[in-house]
Amino acid sequence: MHKLVIHGGLPLKGKVSIGGSKNSSLPILAATLLTPEPCILHGVPNLSDIRYMLQILQFLGAEVEFSDSTVRVQARNVQPEAPYDLVRKMRASICVLGPLLARCHQAKVSLPGGCVIGDRPIDLHLKGLSALGAEIRVEEGYIVAQCKELKGAKVELYGKFGSTVLGTDNVLMAASLARGTTLIEGAAVEPEVADLVEFLQKMGATIRGAGTRVLEIEGVEELHGAEHTVIRDRIEASTFAVAAVMTGGELLLEGAPFSHMDSVLQTLRSCGARWDITPNGIRVWTNGPLRAFQLQTEPYPGFPTDMQAQFCALACVTPGRSTVEERIFPNRFMHVSELKRMGAQIELLGNRATIEGVSHLSGAPVMASDLRASAALVLAGLVAKGKTTVHRVYHIDRGYENIDQKLQQVGAEIRREVVS
Ligand code: UD1
Repeated sequence: MHKLVIHGGLPLKGKVSIGGSKNSSLPILAATLLTPEPCILHGVPNLSDIRYMLQILQFLGAEVEFSDSTVRVQARNVQPEAPYDLVRKMRASICVLGPLLARCHQAKVSLPGGCVIGDRPIDLHLKGLSALGAEIRVEEGYIVAQCKELKGAKVELYGKFGSTVLGTDNVLMAASLARGTTLIEGAAVEPEVADLVEFLQKMGATIRGAGTRVLEIEGVEELHGAEHTVIRDRIEASTFAVAAVMTGGELLLEGAPFSHMDSVLQTLRSCGARWDITPNGIRVWTNGPLRAFQLQTEPYPGFPTDMQAQFCALACVTPGRSTVEERIFPNRFMHVSELKRMGAQIELLGNRATIEGVSHLSGAPVMASDLRASAALVLAGLVAKGKTTVHRVYHIDRGYENIDQKLQQVGAEIRREVVS
């Protein structure tokens, strides 16, 4: 087990290379189960979530090789059962359900279980796959699904918090090998869904409407192997952008996918940060004092819930009163109590945090509770006076590749230590 020890107060300056998107890579890896032919994926980040997914693919029968950001998967034969011990490590493993049903006409996938950011139902995944003809029951903690064949259908995937990203992915993948045409209404429009569509199209799927709320999929008999480079990680890039702003530094985020970061960049501008788009990526800096801001999380293209915690950290050291409303996962505020331990002034009422900027945070031992909450604590540590120790760093390693090394390279005083 590791911890990160940070001595705050240094402005970050230099270049950070932004890696491939975790949230794109995971469903695209699951999609490789749809064909017995080899698939090659480039730009895959070396993260623990990715390694869990590769373990699941191997357990299901695929041959897997991973080196230098390139994954080669060949699922010649697939068995349809993904057990609890593997699935519980990562909720995104639910996205093997659609491919298994399509490929094997049956699937037994452990229910992913609870999650610290709140209740995360999968009713929309099951609704979508049932509409395609799967019979689904939940038995002893497992989703057990089977079908004679999958048939195209009209599927409506809006939930009370908006569309579902992985639910859309699951139905898309299943529909690609279903008989006939599927119409997904209320599809998620996150760039990671469009990336999956592009990969499926390279495999031979017929899909129209990428990036829109309505996807039309004409099922094909079989899919073939494909080669693809995943998009860059907009959340990693946005997190480093906040690091530049909070520390009063200047970073060039090399390869940052600026067209996917509009809401984050607009919010940074509204709080007084500066950025421009260069041929190599986004340059972010500050020029004068920051201003309080208001934000609410929403499905894409709105402000991403995966950046909410990091902006809470930013608000802690921004003069004035900022408000942050969480509309996707209303309980996703585990970082608040830890930020308060560092001297933050935050009032949490339901899904809304009101944050009064303080002149400085104080270093403290803090506990990471989930992936993005831990990023927020690292950001807070970078500006806090004195020493911050972030425990349970495995959360951050799920989604940020070598975050300590990347921060060191741009001037942060941060080191990883083994917890004795
Ligand atoms: C994905 C992302 C995650 C991000 C989230 C929202 C991956 C691997 N993960 O998660 O980082 O925070 O999108 O942008 O890509 N919901 C239901 N029923 C369902 C499914 C979801 O009610 O069957 C609700 C959820 O509780 C939540 C909202 O819909 O309130 C959005 O969740 P969803 O888009 O499904 O999140 P994930 O795809 O799991």
